[in-house]
Amino acid sequence: MNIPLNKKKVLITGVSGQDGSYMVDYLLEKTDCEIFGMVRRLSNTNYSNLEESFNNSRFQLVTGDLSDSQSINKVVEKIKPDYFINLAAQSFVGSSWDLPEQTMDINAIGVLRCLEAIKRYCPNCRFYNAGSSEEFGDTQYKPQDEKHPLRARSPYGASKIAARQLVKVYRESFGIYAIQGILFNHESERRGEEFVTRKITKGIARIVKAIQNKEAFEPVRLGNMYALRDWSHAKDFVDGIWRMLNQPIMQVTDGVEHPLGTLCGSINHLLGDWEPKEYVLASGETHTVKEFAEIVAKEAGFEFTWVGAGSEEKMVLANYLNDISEVKSQVLIEVDPKYYRPAEVSLLLGDSTAARNELGWKPQISFDNLAKGMIKWDLYESGVTPQPTESACCHSSCECSK
Ligand code: GDD
Repeated sequence: MNIPLNKKKVLITGVSGQDGSYMVDYLLEKTDCEIFGMVRRLSNTNYSNLEESFNNSRFQLVTGDLSDSQSINKVVEKIKPDYFINLAAQSFVGSSWDLPEQTMDINAIGVLRCLEAIKRYCPNCRFYNAGSSEEFGDTQYKPQDEKHPLRARSPYGASKIAARQLVKVYRESFGIYAIQGILFNHESERRGEEFVTRKITKGIARIVKAIQNKEAFEPVRLGNMYALRDWSHAKDFVDGIWRMLNQPIMQVTDGVEHPLGTLCGSINHLLGDWEPKEYVLASGETHTVKEFAEIVAKEAGFEFTWVGAGSEEKMVLANYLNDISEVKSQVLIEVDPKYYRPAEVSLLLGDSTAARNELGWKPQISFDNLAKGMIKWDLYESGVTPQPTESACCHSSCECSK
């Protein structure tokens, strides 16, 4: 392990996943930090999201596992990071009913292991843990802000609430700059295929390819298409995370806050009455799964109609009822109750006013462009279309002004 002395060091877990890899891209571009990506020692590794980062000498992988405190201790003791960004998790809500213990172990006890390592080896390190709008569960009002009560509907939600409490305890007991943001859904072409957005874009791209080859195809099978989610692009969220980690430290004197500086380093013992804040990151729009599917199908060139209701509801090609012989199958999407969850979070809509006003954060990529960008990518990956042209700054769907 090559550990430089003169640069800020960032340790990121979950580095090969969507959020971790975007965090690496972001930090390589916007900072001069040295980045250590923590990965488990697996025989089957997929680092495709990190391919470009490997060309940068400021990025390296280290081995560690959230389920093993010794390995975390070793890594933290050796690197003594200035920032520790924990993006590793059992992040699929749907699996958390089948794997409740593993979910709790990684998402809650894993966080405890990180906090203990920080307390022991680098108490001045700034710690970020990935929190979730799933903690709000059966929501009481909309839009949901930082004050919304925590009312989990899944073992996943419960594990993130447990982690939030641990982060709070370590912040208050030991003066560690430890926070857990509240992130609403965030997607991209790096999203895992078990999540609904990528499942839809991959599935529709597969169908386009089958039709091109004049082959029959299976529909995309979904659960509850009426769940409402507040979706953003993951790229926008890593910027929000970094801003949350770099709040200026304030000193409270007679109830008035005075800035002490933004540098991390040996100032955590001065936190006193001041605490770093935990912010909601969200687009402020909510859409059904069905709306997402409609944008994707249109962008892929389909004309379609919906038939049936409830578990019989289907998206079919518009000329389905006229029986066209060229196309061998007609159903693009259908409901399969096996994807219904034992308990659903029906409505998520985030209020990120505080992050926008206090951190200067603002998402750049709209829901519409997120969905279009993802299907364009998957059409390309399926070999249906040429590679989408990336805009100068970041992504084919990016709306930022650069
Ligand atoms: N995965 C999946 N598969 N979800 C489906 C399907 C399906 O076939 N059909 C309908 N859905 C519905 C789910 O029931 C849920 O209401 C919604 O689509 C979104 O599901 P996911 O994409 O799996 O995401 P999530 O909202 O459960 O959780 C994501 O967002 C959280 C933040 O709110 C994950 O990224 C979590 O890790 C994250 O914390």
